[in-house]
Amino acid sequence: MDPWNPAQYERFRAERRQPFDDLLALVERRAGMRTVDLGCGTGDLTRDLHRALQAASTLGVDRSPRMLERATGLDEPGLTFVRQDIASLPAEARFDLVFSNAALQWLPDHPALLARLTRAVAEGGQLAFQVPASGLAARQIAADVALTEPFRSALGGWTRDVITALQPVEYAALLYQLGYRRQHVRLQIYPHVLADREQVFEWMKGTLLTAYEERLPADLRTAFLEAFRARLLDTLEDARPFFYAFPRILCWGARGE
Ligand SMILES: C[S@@+](CC[C@H](N)C(=O)[O-])C[C@H]1O[C@@H](n2cnc3c(N)ncnc32)[C@H](O)[C@@H]1O
Repeated sequence: MDPWNPAQYERFRAERRQPFDDLLALVERRAGMRTVDLGCGTGDLTRDLHRALQAASTLGVDRSPRMLERATGLDEPGLTFVRQDIASLPAEARFDLVFSNAALQWLPDHPALLARLTRAVAEGGQLAFQVPASGLAARQIAADVALTEPFRSALGGWTRDVITALQPVEYAALLYQLGYRRQHVRLQIYPHVLADREQVFEWMKGTLLTAYEERLPADLRTAFLEAFRARLLDTLEDARPFFYAFPRILCWGARGE
């Protein structure tokens, strides 16, 4: 079951674009770059990356067939997409830029992951990624709901990790250890003004909750979403518009001197 729904995901397109633009601004433009965009989603931002860098080639990688369906319509010289898990990037792959916006948080063990991704960064190449900072209350709420019945039994006690991202200082140290002699790591709060608190639920439906939907039997999915929604809304002020501060970590590093 592919729980990703491009239409749901793109409801917050403008809000999601801001960190992409900020991450792209950190990348140093060089002639003829070979670029890979990990967890490229629907591919429109991958195309923007390709164009902005005037890259020789850009490969979008995603494991969701539904998200990639959109991407395959984006025909452009040098731009290609492949359905693949980030975890199984071929060992021999080499790129001048390994880029990932809002996707690495889906993978565990970031020290090991970044070490693996660094093998795909050519000498003198760059790594740039953005992940939501740890501490999103919604993740804890989803995990709490997953541990109540009947979801607990259906999921076999599984919950999505509440914390996957490291602290900014830990990413900085890791980049240094991995040979990125120049780096830029920062925590940035994105101030989103949403119509009401219900929109936070809609936002989470397009991302966080997909991991639960993927694992739950079809007859429990709606009940799970409802239980999550009720708990989430309880924690949020009923304000219109609703101010939603979203913390993200942006990391960029260049290998070599
Ligand atoms: C929040 S979306 C981000 C999409 C796009 N980068 C953007 O900025 O709009 C996360 C994407 O990562 C993909 N993804 C999550 N885990 C993945 C994995 N292990 N391998 C490949 N893609 C993955 C999902 O399918 C989804 O399309």
